[in-house]
Amino acid sequence: MTLREDWETHAAQWIRWARAPGHDSYWRLHRDQFLRLLPPPGRLTLDIGCGEGRLSRDLKQLGHRVIAIDGSPSMVAAAREADPSMDIRLADAAALPIEDASADLAVAFMSPHDMDDMSGAVRESARVLQRGGKLCLAIVHPINSAGNFVDRTADAAFVIKGDYLGVFDYSDAIEHNGLPMTFCSRHRPLESYFLALEEAGFVVEALREPRVPDQAADTEADRRWQRLPLFLHIRARRE
Ligand SMILES: C[S@@+](CC[C@H](N)C(=O)[O-])C[C@H]1O[C@@H](n2cnc3c(N)ncnc32)[C@H](O)[C@@H]1O
Repeated sequence: MTLREDWETHAAQWIRWARAPGHDSYWRLHRDQFLRLLPPPGRLTLDIGCGEGRLSRDLKQLGHRVIAIDGSPSMVAAAREADPSMDIRLADAAALPIEDASADLAVAFMSPHDMDDMSGAVRESARVLQRGGKLCLAIVHPINSAGNFVDRTADAAFVIKGDYLGVFDYSDAIEHNGLPMTFCSRHRPLESYFLALEEAGFVVEALREPRVPDQAADTEADRRWQRLPLFLHIRARRE
């Protein structure tokens, strides 16, 4: 099964998970930090791997003209249902149904590590962005996906048993506040993302490693993620 098929399989779980107010990291940890990285609304903003569309709707509220794309039919249906006025397209991120050089901003929020062909998606973003356009990414930090804390105490050791420099698929089945969710993703080292950007003609102009803010660090387990980054945010410019 491809990662794209995995996401369709778990789409119903994701839609419940992503729509439970205040439930996941989007609300609690990093949406606002990610939004601060974006340029102001311009010609056209693409939301690549939009899921059920929560970021697309937030971008629209902020004044962006958005086309949203996702590879899962169920996610696309849910995003269209939530806002029928939005342009939501079913497509693979590595084959965007978008004209060359027609956008000035592309965002891929928490989706590149879920894509089978991340490099292809970055290349496609370069094709559809005008020169000087920006690609903003949020991913699970490769440190995070490479290893695990040994326990849930705030000062727990973090251990990488496997191969940080390797590429491997992983699946996390979790339950939080009664909602189950299975995340199917691919670990890639930092170099994979930076090579993809470099080869597609992007220059990285900003990088953030958001930490769990004090007000969201309710438990000892949360406080572990004030020592290591959960996520990585990147803004790159199309040369
Ligand atoms: C973790 S969800 C993030 C959704 C949304 N950006 C959010 O934060 O609410 C990852 C999304 O990437 C999509 N995805 C995975 N592979 C894809 C591909 N090859 N092309 C387009 N979308 C893909 C999945 O269907 C899923 O909706």
